[in-house]
Amino acid sequence: MVERDAGTTEGKAGITRRRFTLGVLVASLLGAAGSVLTLLKVLSPEKQGGGYVTTIRPGDRLVYARGGETGVTVRASSMKVGDAVLVYPSSKASNPANLVQLIRLKETDLKPPTNIGLTDQGFVAYSAICTHLGCTVSWVENQKSPDASYTECFCHNSIFDPARGAKVMGGPAPIPLAQIGVKVTGEGALIFTSDFTGPIGPQV
Ligand code: FES
Repeated sequence: MVERDAGTTEGKAGITRRRFTLGVLVASLLGAAGSVLTLLKVLSPEKQGGGYVTTIRPGDRLVYARGGETGVTVRASSMKVGDAVLVYPSSKASNPANLVQLIRLKETDLKPPTNIGLTDQGFVAYSAICTHLGCTVSWVENQKSPDASYTECFCHNSIFDPARGAKVMGGPAPIPLAQIGVKVTGEGALIFTSDFTGPIGPQV
């Protein structure tokens, strides 16, 4: 009886030791995996969804992405209320995930969920990549009534309201276009002031 008790105690001690060792091993492996993930996060740009990775950083200058002025700095004075243009951050046009639609609206027309703190003098900017399947969005201008203008993706007719955080007004796009901060500098140029507020690219 005494010997059996001793054996049982020894057996329990052995199991406890093995469990402890296994626990330490698992904890070490988890710790190592965490370190690797942290390292990967530091080394690679932030993933924004749909496989699109943007490299826009605060302070990047906005330049025209289309037309005869491609690559030229966008100046606030060149856009009136109701205008919209496609832009890239300067020297980063090779990354299509960086394409942005810059719009000028009446400041008083900008309503939540637009992040007003990320706008300046009526300038508001959103990712130009449709959240449905990734086509480039277009501007549908209403010249008689600029505040009735809107953003549309002609691939499958998703419509976004630029005055209200680019929320989806129609079509298959599942979520709004992500907003990005812009501001007018003392010299009248436009620069980015933030990262995108949400995921960019297709979300289906
Ligand atoms: S890709 Fe834009 S609506 Fe389908």
